[in-house]
Amino acid sequence: MKKQILMLSAALLTLAAMTAACCGKENKSADPSADRAEATIATIMQRKSVRSYTADPISDTVMETLLRAAVAAPSGMDIRPWHIVVMTDKSQYDTLFAGNFNLEKFKQSSAVFIFCADTTVTRPPRENPQAPAVTTPNPIWRDDMGACVENFLLAVEAHGLGAVWTACYPFPNQMEPVRNFLKLPGNVVPYAIVPVGTPAGGEQPKDKWDTTRIHYGRW
Ligand SMILES: Cc1cc2nc3c(=O)[nH]c(=O)nc-3n(C[C@H](O)[C@H](O)[C@H](O)COP(=O)(O)O)c2cc1C
Repeated sequence: MKKQILMLSAALLTLAAMTAACCGKENKSADPSADRAEATIATIMQRKSVRSYTADPISDTVMETLLRAAVAAPSGMDIRPWHIVVMTDKSQYDTLFAGNFNLEKFKQSSAVFIFCADTTVTRPPRENPQAPAVTTPNPIWRDDMGACVENFLLAVEAHGLGAVWTACYPFPNQMEPVRNFLKLPGNVVPYAIVPVGTPAGGEQPKDKWDTTRIHYGRW
């Protein structure tokens, strides 16, 4: 009898352990949105400007993922003004980063992405969608471009790579060499230049949380 009780206890303990393991697993996958939120927020909080790289190349698959993430950005009236030029020929970096004191560091990057914006939009007038398309200035291309570059930077971080947004627009001395080199059409602006590579290490995200910048219900 004593032996039977012991065996029953052991069976119950095993069952309890199995249930706990099983439920633990279920709990984890029962709320996949929580895992996704955690991963997304971690990527956002870990993003930092990276200006030193090792020589590792970026695979074509990762390259395409980064580009797909960039162009998934929101866009006013869904105009999507972005064009992205991918550069890997280091001999051209002197021109791209004309005057930039980080030039030698940026030459270590695996690829440089030039984010360009079509500042116009060609489509039928809003008031008459049946009329022939006309070309007009797009007043909100800058906003779309910022979202596009940030999406890209987050995808870079998510892949364990490093990048830094370097200014181009609106500085004529930084825009003109790129504009001439790429022979950009007159309506296209070189907006930002982003070198990407495997981080050589050192850079850390900054803590930018500042409650004086947050206003609830009033300024
Ligand atoms: C519009 C813009 C232009 C920038 N231009 C440059 C630049 O020309 N060179 C550079 O090294 N970093 C540049 N940065 C990166 C900033 O210096 C960096 O984002 C800032 O110091 C905050 O650091 P964090 O990105 O690590 O959070 C630029 C960032 C933005 C958003």
